[in-house]
Amino acid sequence: MIRGTIDKIAGPLVVADGMKDARMYDLVYVSDYKLIGEIIELKGDKASIQVYEETGGLKPGDPVEATGKPLSVELGPGLVTAIYDGIQRPLDEIRKEAGDWITRGISIRGLDHEKEWDFIPVAAVGLNVTGGEVLGEVPETKIITHKIMVPPEVSGVITWMSEAGKFNIDTVIAKLKAPDGSTVELPMYHNWPVRKPRPIAEKRAPAEPLITGQRVIDAFFPLGKGGTACVPGPFGSGKTVIQHQLAKWADAEMVIYVGCGERGNEMTDVLQEFPELEDPKSGEPLINRTVLVANTSNMPVAAREASVYTGITIGEYFRDMGYSVALMADSTSRWAEAMREMSGRLEEMPGEEGYPAYLGTRIAEFYERAGNVKCIGGDRNGALTVVGAVSPAGGDLSDPVVQATLRVVKVFWSLQAKLAYARHFPAIGWLDSYSLYTDNLKEYYDEELGPEWVPMIKGAISLLQQEANLLEIARLVGAESLSPEDQLILYTARSLREDFLHQNAFHEVDTYTSIIKQKMMMEVIMHTNAEMKKAIRVGVSPGDLFELPLKEEIARMSYIPEDHLDDIESINTHVISQISDLIEKEQTA
Ligand SMILES: Nc1ncnc2c1ncn2[C@@H]1O[C@H](COP(=O)(O)OP(=O)(O)O)[C@@H](O)[C@H]1O
Ligand SMILES: [Mg+2]
Repeated sequence: MIRGTIDKIAGPLVVADGMKDARMYDLVYVSDYKLIGEIIELKGDKASIQVYEETGGLKPGDPVEATGKPLSVELGPGLVTAIYDGIQRPLDEIRKEAGDWITRGISIRGLDHEKEWDFIPVAAVGLNVTGGEVLGEVPETKIITHKIMVPPEVSGVITWMSEAGKFNIDTVIAKLKAPDGSTVELPMYHNWPVRKPRPIAEKRAPAEPLITGQRVIDAFFPLGKGGTACVPGPFGSGKTVIQHQLAKWADAEMVIYVGCGERGNEMTDVLQEFPELEDPKSGEPLINRTVLVANTSNMPVAAREASVYTGITIGEYFRDMGYSVALMADSTSRWAEAMREMSGRLEEMPGEEGYPAYLGTRIAEFYERAGNVKCIGGDRNGALTVVGAVSPAGGDLSDPVVQATLRVVKVFWSLQAKLAYARHFPAIGWLDSYSLYTDNLKEYYDEELGPEWVPMIKGAISLLQQEANLLEIARLVGAESLSPEDQLILYTARSLREDFLHQNAFHEVDTYTSIIKQKMMMEVIMHTNAEMKKAIRVGVSPGDLFELPLKEEIARMSYIPEDHLDDIESINTHVISQISDLIEKEQTA
């Protein structure tokens, strides 16, 4: 233990003397309150410490202790359903100890060390194992089987394996003879430093989409499993609603939700909803596949950074078990602002808009922890998908955090104030958003939705682009001057926007659309377009076509429940007969 004393205090930054033997990123206890902090700068014998708790009342001369260990999380059974603060302290335990006030210096471990779990061994004595190898399993919730793995960087021959039984996580369940001859005892959990990515065997390009049930995302700007996306947008444009929708409906096996510096009541919504909502696949409460990390706006600023790292480390751990994990962080801008504040207090040379020069590196390193991977220790593949909200002031995309993020992520969902203002939700702009996974996912779509899906989507996007140009022309010379064909483009583009892209997150049915239903809806709209084109060619007037009652039927599609998809089939047939009636009338006239 390295002991020093406080020299000065500046908000969440404490400078301590007598720390020359400490190391960067060592975990430290500050003052007799034992506030938790991390060394973020060392100069001579002075250490600058970012303190994860309120620093009021500290004074020069107070003791500081460096533990010689980095800030780490506990990884083992008990993570699923947990709700943590930024440094993995369970919020309900804190509340039990401190009432509604988060008092300081509360030391609570991330996992419950008393609770007993059913352990089932799967490895055998004599096996030579390396990091990641599965030793046993714990059925943690009805949907998550927790794999007890050899910690990364540990290896050896199994000399003893526990029988099946009910144990707490401190119980040794295997012993290894390490290459140096020593014996390693492995309990059911291990610690991992949050700033260090957990090792993988190999990273691969995402080959499957993360199906979100959000039509504009799945159809137009899909995210690959193991991929990265960012959602920048101004206040009120729907970043949080999108993140919540993904946390609820994305077909990930585990979800890590990091609330970083945003309003606490949004987190409360999640906490109240998740135990009640059912996972559409398993029918289990969503909380049974979720870990929540909450460092809301009323909590210490410095811990925002820790919350992001804590979340992603837990995500990597479940990925290592072979799960498809999705992590949502809302908002990475608040993390960046915390970095800016610490950097300012350290008097570092500021970069753009006062953010530290290493902003881009930090953000890139964070998103690089995502991936579709071959796991270490055995034949498992896992995926960690990362979606970050970015909240630049006024929605300005030239903001340094947005720019740094766009350089690394592969999907950009551009939220637009004018769409949100017009109540077009999700307010994802269809003209400037993009997904760089479309090509990688083509094979999957060809297989699952048929080879017609990708060209159909391209056609739809092209119609929306043409709409933008035509609207401009119509604004200049009047809509009446547009040709019937161009009027049809406007008609169909509008239908795409209103009947497909628009989706109400708060409507029981509309909140989630399976990709099968998405395809059926898209087919009806594009089919209508093709039939109307034929009609126009034989001389039917666009006015007559656009007044057909099929318009209302198409608008109803998004509210048709998943178990009534035949109804969409009938709409399709009905559409064709309405249009062919007009064609027939025209031809017999
Ligand atoms: N998909 C959606 N469906 C319906 N309403 C939405 C949707 N997305 C956003 N909204 C509306 O916009 C409001 C603001 O969204 P929110 O996600 O809190 O914005 P942000 O996080 O960008 O500030 C929500 O309270 C809701 O009324
Ligand atoms: Mg928000």
